[in-house]
Amino acid sequence: MADSSTVKVRPARSVRGVVRIPGDKSISHRYAMLAAIAEGTSRFHNFSAARDCFSTLGCIRGLGSGWAQKDDGTIDVQGRGPRLSSPAGPLDCGNSGSTMRMLSGILAGQPFASELFGDESLSRRPMARIMTPLSQMGARIEARDGGRPPLKIQGGSLKAIHYKPEVASAQVKSCVLFSGLFAEGETIVEEPIRTRDHGELALRAFGVEVGRSGNTARIRGGQKLSAIEAHVPGDLSSAAFFLCAAAMFPDSQITLPGILMNPTRARLLDILVLMGLRISVAHLEEHHGELIGAIEAGGGTWKGAVISGADTAALIDEIPVLAATAPYTEDGLEVRDAKELRVKESDRITAVATNLRKMGAEVEEGPDGLRIPGRQQLRGAELESFGDHRIAMAFAVAALRADGETLIHGASAAGVSYPAFFEDLQRVTE
Ligand code: S3P
Repeated sequence: MADSSTVKVRPARSVRGVVRIPGDKSISHRYAMLAAIAEGTSRFHNFSAARDCFSTLGCIRGLGSGWAQKDDGTIDVQGRGPRLSSPAGPLDCGNSGSTMRMLSGILAGQPFASELFGDESLSRRPMARIMTPLSQMGARIEARDGGRPPLKIQGGSLKAIHYKPEVASAQVKSCVLFSGLFAEGETIVEEPIRTRDHGELALRAFGVEVGRSGNTARIRGGQKLSAIEAHVPGDLSSAAFFLCAAAMFPDSQITLPGILMNPTRARLLDILVLMGLRISVAHLEEHHGELIGAIEAGGGTWKGAVISGADTAALIDEIPVLAATAPYTEDGLEVRDAKELRVKESDRITAVATNLRKMGAEVEEGPDGLRIPGRQQLRGAELESFGDHRIAMAFAVAALRADGETLIHGASAAGVSYPAFFEDLQRVTE
């Protein structure tokens, strides 16, 4: 996306205050898609403000599922039942890989042809990972250059499969489970590493039976969905920026009410505690299977960490901010097994290394990871977001403890997941 927005970040002494983090992006996508194929009208409170989730809402409108947003942000989505209407034209997924990959699972089961396209970044991202299982189920899917968007899907009757994805991806798991709703028989997804389970929990919330044991999830085709009313928990991956900001300053104190605590996402909190952040969680509640709690966090020491294997998969969206702030740790950060970071909204390994070097840091970049020594003082610099929301926000945080001002070009990319990020960050920095 052409983007000329620039944000200036000045050094701060501390971060203190309360931040209300917008609704979780992963859950909002799934709720909107499932609401479209449910019977009745669903209502979502604290639905994500992310541009990505509005890409999903735009697509479901194109498929005949109307929605309306109230002044307080609540969204009502009119369900169409299992049969959506044939779209009048190609569906725009914007920057959102989640929209394209998961919606494809639903479109594979619809008796019409559809086309999904995205922006420049999304047009470079791999889609073979969903094309393979959906083709095995009986859908016909075409893409450019062996698996890049746009995607052309001819849906129809599907047969169940037992699928073992090569990459650990929650988007792929949700895609296959969603298509399993339209397949004859029982569809099984067996993952190499257990990924976030919002797809399974959302399906259950809408009344679908989903079996689970270990890394395997199963779903019977032909089940009907009923509309729900739900409160979307605050996005822990967005909260990560404020938690890392707090970790950089010993006397910081930050309160984040109503944050997602789903155990398949909350590895971040364990790692931050191991690194020295003081964290407590209060007011734990459960909504439609998703845990929510209020986080209180304060700085202390800021040690290092090694992130590898299942931890890398569990922290995949938080690695940019952990890496951008790693020079301020005592022992540095090593990230391994993170090849997937190269095919996110940008090549996040190169983006992090490039920006850290511009800030004067020593960084080692490997094919599937990074090593960033600790005890390094960064200096303000002129940086790029690479059109990537998490890179823009990660370096705004790192810049708070640098010497001198930092300019971040392409900063409006932050709106892809967190439109009010810079205002919220400024409000709590002293
Ligand atoms: C997501 C899964 C992850 C994550 C993305 C959201 C999801 O992607 O990076 O931001 O909602 O399922 P992969 O499934 O490709 O790892």
